[in-house]
Formats: sequence, C-alpha cells, structure tokens
Amino acid sequence: MSDIATLEVNGQKYDFPLIKGTENEVAIDIKTLRGATEGIVTIDPGYKNTGSCESGITFLDGEKGILRYRGYSIEDLAEKADFLEVAYALIFGDLPNKEQLDKFHTDIKANSIVDDDVKKIVDAFPKAAHPMGVLSSLTSALTAFNPSSVDVSSEEEMYNSVVKILGKFPVLVAWAMRKKQGLPLDYGDSSLGYVENILKMMFKQPNEEYVQNEILVDALDKLLILHADHEQNCSTSTVRIVGSSHAGLFASLSAGISALWGPLHGGANQAVLEMLEAIKEDGGDTKKYMAKAKDKNDPFRLMGFGHRVYKNFDPRARIIKTAADEVLADLGIEDPILDIAKGLEQEALNDEYFVKRKLYPNVDFYSGIIYRAMGIPVEMFTAMFALGRLPGWIAQWREMRLRKEPIGRPRQIYIGKNLREFTGINER
Ligand code: SDX
Repeated sequence: MSDIATLEVNGQKYDFPLIKGTENEVAIDIKTLRGATEGIVTIDPGYKNTGSCESGITFLDGEKGILRYRGYSIEDLAEKADFLEVAYALIFGDLPNKEQLDKFHTDIKANSIVDDDVKKIVDAFPKAAHPMGVLSSLTSALTAFNPSSVDVSSEEEMYNSVVKILGKFPVLVAWAMRKKQGLPLDYGDSSLGYVENILKMMFKQPNEEYVQNEILVDALDKLLILHADHEQNCSTSTVRIVGSSHAGLFASLSAGISALWGPLHGGANQAVLEMLEAIKEDGGDTKKYMAKAKDKNDPFRLMGFGHRVYKNFDPRARIIKTAADEVLADLGIEDPILDIAKGLEQEALNDEYFVKRKLYPNVDFYSGIIYRAMGIPVEMFTAMFALGRLPGWIAQWREMRLRKEPIGRPRQIYIGKNLREFTGINER
C-alpha cells in the first residue's frame, strides 16, 4: 500500500502522508492541508471520520467487537484483574507488580480526605440536584482546595494530582449519593481495598456496623473495569480538549463529567432503566416501544442500543449481561426488568431496522440492572459510570500533556451573513 494520499482540487494535486497504527489502522495526516491549499479545511460533524490524536491507551475494533486497554483484552482484565490494577495500567502503561500497586494504593489512601469545607458546597445543593451536576461542581471546586494540582508540567507533579483525584473522587461520589438520602457525609476506611472502601462510603448506615458483601465487591470491581476507558468518546475528547488549554486536571475532569451526563452518552444507563420501568408499567409491551424506536416522527430511542463505533456486539455488554444473571442469582433477586431487557434485545436483534443499522446493546443496556440489584439509586448510575471512567480520563489527559499536544481549536465553514452596513436602532 502506498504511504501517500493524493487530493485533487480544481486540477491541483496535493500529497499527504498516510500514517498506520500498531493495529494497522490508517489515517491521512492533513496537518499541512490548510497551508498547502491556501485555506481549504475538512469538515466532519461529530468527527465520525476524523481522528483527534494518536494514542497508546485503548484499542477498539467496532466491526469485530474488540476492546483492549494497553493491549490487554477487556475479557482478561474483567476476569483476572482488579480495578486499581487496571487504573494503574491505563495511566502508566503496564499492569503493576505488587510493589508498584501497593505504593500506588498507599499514595491514593494518603490523599483520600476531602477538605471539610467542601461539605458546605454539598449542603448548598437541593436534595433534588442530579448527582452528575453535584459531581461536576465538586470536582471543579477541588481545584480551589488543591491549587498545586493545576500547574503540573513534571511527571512528579502530575502523579501528585493523579493520586489526589483517585483518592478524593470516590468520596465525592459517596457524598453525592448520601446527600440525596439525607445521610451523614463520612470518610472512607484506609484499612480497606479501593472498591471495598467505595462501597462502605456509599452504604454505611450511621447506626450499624458495615458488613462487606463480596458479591457486591466483585460486581462493582468488574463494572468499574468495564467502564474504565473507551478511546476518544465524547467525554474523553472533552477532557483532552479542556486539558489542552492547561486548565488543570480537576477542571478537565469536571468538563468530562458534564459531557458524560448526557443521555446519548453515559446518561444512557439511567435512561435505560427508566425506559425498562416504563415498559414494565405499560404491561411489558416491548413491541410498542420497538415501533416507537423505529418511528422517525417519534423522538423515542431504544436507550442502551446503538454505538458510534461498535457495529457489532459491544464486548462490555456481553460481559455485563452474564454478570447481571450471576449477581441477581447470587443475591437471590428476581427482577422482571432483566427479562424485559432480554426480550427487547432478542426482538431488536431480529428486527430489520436494527439489523440494517447494526444497532446492538451497548455498555449501558444491562449495567443499570446490576446497579439496581446492588441498591444504587437510578440517579446515581451515571455517577458510577464516571467513577469507572476516571482512570481512563486521567490516562488520556496525562498522555495529551506528556506528548505536549497543541491547544485544541477546530476550524469551521462560515455560512452566516456577508459584510453589511451597521444601522442605528431607529432604522431597524
Ligand atoms: C456510550 O463513544 C463511546 O465510546 C461511548 C461509550 C463509552 O464507553 O464512552 O461507549 C458510552 O455513550 C454508549 C452509548 C450510550 N447511548 C445510548 O444508548 C443512547 C441510544 N443510542 C443512540 O442515541 C445512538 O446509537 C448513539 C448516540 C449511541 C450513536 O449515535 P450515532 O453514531 O450518531 O448514530 P446515529 O444517531 O447517526 O444513528 C444512525 C441510525 C439513525 O437512523 P437513520 O437516520 O439512519 O434512519 O440509527 C438510528 C438513528 O435514528 N439509531 C437508533 C438508535 N441509535 C441509532 N434508532 C433507535 N434507537 C437507537 N438507540
């Protein structure tokens, strides 16, 4: 294959280098396009055909349903690793040895206290506030309490910011949930593992000893791993572009949390449960909702279905679907919502509209069923997605900063008014 792409515009030919990744993906490097053509740019709404960066963190193949973090398959990681190991691998490049993992966890625990004044910000929110809005605000506010986390150019300064947010973010997630429940905002327990500590902070009742449930620990650990990174999705691209202005890690993460909140992105896991509940209330009439999803005049979408990149099964959805069966069985829970979900999946997989558009269940389709079985409120589902995605966002931000990438600033094609005379208000 040639290593050049040639573009012809008005009879003039321009050559651009092709670059090939380690998995044989090919891109046309158009860094010189505007200069060479005296102003021509490309346009690609939603960036469906446009790469924003070269990255060594996550590889996915949407046609084959492949997902790997730092070369490790998602199936291996979900089965054999724990979340903190995966976080380390995403951020620093390889799975850690025991000494590296212990130091990483020790440093995180040493940074897992959130300034008590942050509770005043939590108190200022109404109980009805959505946890993602609370989390985005609190994460940005952390900058004010950790000013040294902003101007980080050395790897050591970056490391300090990384362990700070990995220690404090789970506290913020637990506080966002407990605020809605009217429960005291506590701190974690440094004697516990990372995921055990998260569960205790979320679920400890003020008048009872907290007893760990290994089923919940294993389920949450697996869910966090499955959500940990996904290359240049909407929220990760947001973290990278905000970080490219050197706004600081916490501010970049706060922007990513806001992007993830949207129902077309991470907010879908909450929307899926609400959709399944509505179908259940409606007598379980899945065919009615399938018809709505296919009706162009109806804004209803089958939430948890479809994906920008996966045109095959989302490998995470396969793993979560199996885990949902196991967790519910282990907890002795019969949830009719799971049966409705499976019925919808079967209908969609055999429906021409969905088959033609290659719409399959994505990571959000079954995850909420497990969160609900764990006793997590539906409005917290997307916050749990953010908790899992945190190391991926950090890894992508760190890669962008270490590679000294330029500030993100896309071009546009102007379609507004041409030059016109100013008229005074009495002439308008
Ligand atoms: C995540 O990018 C990532 O990696 C994201 C993520 C991650 O880990 O970070 O994987 C997490 O965000 C998963 C996606 C969660 N969102 C949902 O489940 C919401 C429902 N899904 C859709 O809104 C949609 O599928 C998207 C947003 C996920 C993808 O949208 P695209 O790629 O822009 O595709 P599109 O909207 O152009 O749809 C193509 C066609 C359209 O029909 P036609 O105009 O061709 O006739 O498929 C239809 C769409 O109407 N379609 C759906 C549908 N999804 C797409 N029709 C009904 N129900 C759906 N869910």
